[in-house]
Amino acid sequence: MRRPTFTDQQSGPACLHNIDLRSDTVTLPTTEMLRAMASAPLGDDVFGDDPTVNRLQDVAADRMGKDSGLFVPSGTMGNLIGLLVSARLGQEIIADADSHIFMAEGAGASVVGGIQLRPLETERGIMSPVQLEAAVRPRDDAHQPTTAAIVVENTHNRHGGVVWPLEDLQLVAQVAQRHSLAVHLDGARIFNAAVATEVDVKVLAGVADTVSFCLSKGLSCPAGSLLCGPAATIQEAKRWRKMLGGGMRQAGVLAAAGLVALDTMVDRLHEDHSNARTLAEGLSEMPGVECDLSRVQTNIVYVRLTRVPQGAFLAECRLRGLLAAGPPPDHVRFVTHRGISATDVQHALTVCEEALGV
Ligand SMILES: Cc1ncc(COP(=O)(O)O)c(C=O)c1O
Repeated sequence: MRRPTFTDQQSGPACLHNIDLRSDTVTLPTTEMLRAMASAPLGDDVFGDDPTVNRLQDVAADRMGKDSGLFVPSGTMGNLIGLLVSARLGQEIIADADSHIFMAEGAGASVVGGIQLRPLETERGIMSPVQLEAAVRPRDDAHQPTTAAIVVENTHNRHGGVVWPLEDLQLVAQVAQRHSLAVHLDGARIFNAAVATEVDVKVLAGVADTVSFCLSKGLSCPAGSLLCGPAATIQEAKRWRKMLGGGMRQAGVLAAAGLVALDTMVDRLHEDHSNARTLAEGLSEMPGVECDLSRVQTNIVYVRLTRVPQGAFLAECRLRGLLAAGPPPDHVRFVTHRGISATDVQHALTVCEEALGV
């Protein structure tokens, strides 16, 4: 019997959904995290008094090679504040058209900061220097907004967890430098990128002024993200966090899990990548399934269904205890994580075959 998943907890004991591949956000905290949470030294973090939050912020900044870190409740808030400190009212930030920031964060930068996003269509979320150069606004044209920053997402969620090659990241940084633009890195899954490329996370983060990363995805924490950057920028970010309602008082309860995660959850991410690969290879051999294996670089697998309607497929999987998700009309996304074993992957493949009527 597998340990109960988040889905089981939500749906009650009769729930059969015990292989949950909808997202790596469904991961539950480890026993070590729960112990650390129960015994963490606490204080009021809005006063800067929570020693566990302070420690997490220092450790995170050090990992990212930045001066300072700021603990925030979510990746969305980390990104929003990252944009708010990179641009001001009426300015523009360049982002990939399929980025999480552009597609799935409620236009926060526009709503809160009066900042416009400039979406660029890309093959794999990787913006070329030529594209970027063409998108940077001329500063001497009073009709146009001025460009303030570029956002990159690594790994890229909607493009299937693909990783930015370091050279491409460095080219973005060069364009930014040429035009005095800031770079914000949405590194929700930056550790997946580091593990997959065997490049130190510090080097990946080094191309950006600010970087946000999530504790609550593959790293298994119940909540929390970090925004890291230069000391003065993070000082400004702290004001935005308070304004947005992200000052969390005894947040050390959550930060304690984050410290355990940074110690224990990063090195195991290659297991999720290998499970995703096995899943993708199995799926790609099934009739009625298209899967671009070259995109399966980390823990996300996207497939396109060509015979069975997506809704019917997901419903058949659900009936058999397998949860997946994905953008209609014909895509399905599977995300591997700590709650998914190699055996689960084999079982998931059998369920998919049944759901496809193979
Ligand atoms: C690439 C990326 N950035 C940011 C976020 C937002 O994180 P959160 O759900 O913690 O707000 C997500 C969430 O899935 C994501 O995939």
